[in-house]
Amino acid sequence: MDTEVTEIAADIFRLSTFVDEANLPMNQFLIRGEEPLLFHTGMPMLFPSVSDAASTLLPLDTLRWITFGHVEADESGSMNRWLEAAPKSQVAHGAMGCFVQIGYLADRRPRPLEDGEVIDIGGRRVRRIETPHVPHGWDAGLLFEETTSTLLCGDFFTAFGRPVSETEHDIVGPALAAEDLGHATALTPALGSTLRALADLEPDVLGLMHGPAYRGPCSAALRELAAAYDGRLDSELQRLRG
Ligand SMILES: [Fe+2]
Ligand SMILES: [Fe+2]
Repeated sequence: MDTEVTEIAADIFRLSTFVDEANLPMNQFLIRGEEPLLFHTGMPMLFPSVSDAASTLLPLDTLRWITFGHVEADESGSMNRWLEAAPKSQVAHGAMGCFVQIGYLADRRPRPLEDGEVIDIGGRRVRRIETPHVPHGWDAGLLFEETTSTLLCGDFFTAFGRPVSETEHDIVGPALAAEDLGHATALTPALGSTLRALADLEPDVLGLMHGPAYRGPCSAALRELAAAYDGRLDSELQRLRG
């Protein structure tokens, strides 16, 4: 497997591995700083390729923080492999996620983060934003890097196929097409408002877990996705009420 490395903002690198059987890219993000941080671990089968790619950017044993949006094979599956490769590293995850998941799953004690808490990694400031059940998972959340206005937005805008590494083209249409096939997103009343709150951050770059890095009008894309999901929720409720 080949992992492609792209710098999507200063010191923020997208490590992308395309997995044929899923027809999806699996993207990890490595942020360099005094305390380097990884967002998404990838599945265990990706660890050799992704860790090789990461080691071209920094010595693996200098990694300090291991983070992800939510517990799932692609987001967190090789967490313990990374903890082993980087002896000074620690998982940092939302407090609820640490309580219900990571406290039991991780080989070392995690650092629980409150909603909005910032880890200053030296040069970059990474804010955890809790988004329970959005797009899925009780422990769900995202990371916003404040100094570059980069939103690492996890499974939002997931699209099938092999993407370019960076784009300014539409990411909403392909995401809705993938949603119709995969139904990965929990249609909850909180979905639209969560996306609109993310749009209010006015990010300059969106780092997608399963897609390209997006450099177009990020807030507009987030609001467009919110409106589409609100419409789907409304029509589903109307259908249920007859
Ligand atoms: Fe997921
Ligand atoms: Fe995912």
